[in-house]
Amino acid sequence: MSNETHKPIPMLDLKGQYQSMKDEINSAIQSVLDSCQFIMGPDVRALEDEIAVYTESKFAIGCNSGTDALQMALMTLEVGPGDEIITTPFTFVATAEVVGLLGAKCVFVDILPDTYNINPDLIEAAITDKTKAIIPVHLFGQSVDMDPIQAIAAKHGIPVIEDAAQAIGATYKGRPICGLGEMACLSFFPSKNLGAYGDGGMIMTSDEKLADKLRMIRNHGSRIQYQHDILGVNSRLDTLQAAILRVRLRHLDDWGKARGERAEKYNTLLKSSNVITPITAETNTHVFHQYCACTEKRDAVLDNLRKHQIGCAVYYPIPLHLQPAFRDMGFGEGSLPIAERMSREIFALPIYPELPKEDQEWIVEKILEVTD
Ligand SMILES: Cc1ncc(COP(=O)(O)O)c(C=O)c1O
Repeated sequence: MSNETHKPIPMLDLKGQYQSMKDEINSAIQSVLDSCQFIMGPDVRALEDEIAVYTESKFAIGCNSGTDALQMALMTLEVGPGDEIITTPFTFVATAEVVGLLGAKCVFVDILPDTYNINPDLIEAAITDKTKAIIPVHLFGQSVDMDPIQAIAAKHGIPVIEDAAQAIGATYKGRPICGLGEMACLSFFPSKNLGAYGDGGMIMTSDEKLADKLRMIRNHGSRIQYQHDILGVNSRLDTLQAAILRVRLRHLDDWGKARGERAEKYNTLLKSSNVITPITAETNTHVFHQYCACTEKRDAVLDNLRKHQIGCAVYYPIPLHLQPAFRDMGFGEGSLPIAERMSREIFALPIYPELPKEDQEWIVEKILEVTD
């Protein structure tokens, strides 16, 4: 491509996607409006059943957000002061925030440089008699290497909570994520691969006792109206969002495929450059919630993309152990070197099912201008 002008390219195109399915979405919304069952209407249970089947889990419990899903999963395990939770420092803040909010401590474990996911080989050394759970995060749309984590967790009798907020639809060794640990948490934040038109989340489990407790916790600790057996929260998935999500779930696998094709195109275009493109582990299928690549010239890449009105982002510019909010967890600069390096070198490019492949050529041209 040689012309020096191009239309702006957004990081995400929610409008285009809505337009392509407007009738389906509008009629789902209208039917909820007609029913006036705004809280715990039939679409909530129907979506829970559909996602349980999709993730090969026995139970799925809708809630208000991915953050609430994580908090409720920890509440179900009665996590509190004095407890430790092992997780990655290279994730969205919510994964660790809920740990701190419940008064427990995050024990951060460094990541792998190729998948950006937690390094399973470092987990066992982080286990103490205070460890109450392990939260691996399936970052950017790709599963963590779960078998070694499950083996260590089983050996020590510690439950595993998958943070699957970014990866619904991904598989590990032929199995869908979300059915791999004791519990798994999804986010339906609008930009997610399966996004609602507001906040939403879900917890999956195949343990009936945990499912029962989760249902109570999301509804003020109550099984029977006005009887409160435990302390809970108000975190129900609203019916309008559930109805929208049921429509969108029908498209999810096609979107995952389209994202994968666009990732492949970026990989090909960047092949002989200095940019390190993301890898998909042999055990995995990747749904590319984000397409994140690395270069030492990251800041120059971001400047040039912005100059040409091309959407780009950094996930994540400061690893959690170096965030002021987590200073008292006891991890200093240099303690988790891979996460720290990635936060300096990583950048994310636009990736969505409707992204024109010609736009990708323009984007890569602008990257190569400053890296080669
Ligand atoms: C890895 C991860 N965990 C948790 C969350 C929290 O989800 P929510 O925004 O729905 O609260 C998000 C996304 O926002 C996320 O990316």
